[in-house]
Amino acid sequence: MSNQLLKNKKGIIFGALDENSIAWKVAEKAHDEGAEFVLSNSPIALRKGDIYKLAEKTNSKVISADISEVTDIEKLLKESSEIFEDKIDFILHSVGMSPNVRKNIPYPEMNYEYFQKTLDISAISLHKVLSAAKKFDIINEGGSVITLSYIAAEKYVTGYGDMTHSKALLESIVRQFGYYYGTSKKVRINAVSQSPTPTSATSVVKGFEALYNYSDKVSPLGNASADSCANVCIMLFSDYTKMITMQTIYNDGGFSAVGIGDGDI
Ligand SMILES: NC(=O)c1ccc[n+]([C@@H]2O[C@H](COP(=O)([O-])OP(=O)(O)OC[C@H]3O[C@@H](n4cnc5c(N)ncnc54)[C@H](O)[C@@H]3O)[C@@H](O)[C@H]2O)c1
Repeated sequence: MSNQLLKNKKGIIFGALDENSIAWKVAEKAHDEGAEFVLSNSPIALRKGDIYKLAEKTNSKVISADISEVTDIEKLLKESSEIFEDKIDFILHSVGMSPNVRKNIPYPEMNYEYFQKTLDISAISLHKVLSAAKKFDIINEGGSVITLSYIAAEKYVTGYGDMTHSKALLESIVRQFGYYYGTSKKVRINAVSQSPTPTSATSVVKGFEALYNYSDKVSPLGNASADSCANVCIMLFSDYTKMITMQTIYNDGGFSAVGIGDGDI
């Protein structure tokens, strides 16, 4: 059911790799709700090719950008403004990657070059996107930027390795940049902290299935799906949430608020 909540809104969606990606679900719903957007992903993800199916379905253009490269981001923003002949209203940053986790390197033995890559791609990239957007003044007043986080930003979670630090940094950038962009341009910046969700990114997390099942059992509402995450993103892009900024919003079925559940003892 569509309420055209994003009618006349334009945006950029980073991170739709395949149909399991959270960004994919957000793009589908944003399209249903009347938004127009550019889809962006890394050159290697574009070579996989699935994104073009989404582009066709949502009538969107695809622009390649390595989100850790400022020049790529600036080129993307310029091209997007040309496509829309206008400023934009929303950005979804749905990007994460850890070479340490991918290569299953135990946390105490992490490779520090990989660690820097993890931070650069998964967290500092949000700062780079926001910095370029502010420099070009590409986001309309009242616009909305969302990134995706996980409870491992705050608590130890098995298998999450150095991604835990990237999520802590990401949530901190949300608050810090949210202040600057809020005071200067009334642009909102929020993180959605999502339940474990089976995607390409989690396929490399050791023990993900057990973690997913545990989280599902502990959460009073069960794990939140990618679809429900997309609904929250639509709400945050919409004009109904114009006074929400600098927050981490938990779409996790209540997991983050449970200490000891009835089933645990
Ligand atoms: N799946 C989960 O359980 C879960 C839970 C909480 C938060 N998240 C977060 O959600 C976001 C999206 O992940 P997902 O689960 O949909 O997995 P996904 O693998 O579908 O998406 C990750 C995306 O990051 C992109 N990416 C990686 N390196 C890049 C680069 N250098 N430049 C541009 N793009 C790059 C990938 O191509 C991919 O599209 C991530 O930030 C992830 O940490 C996921």
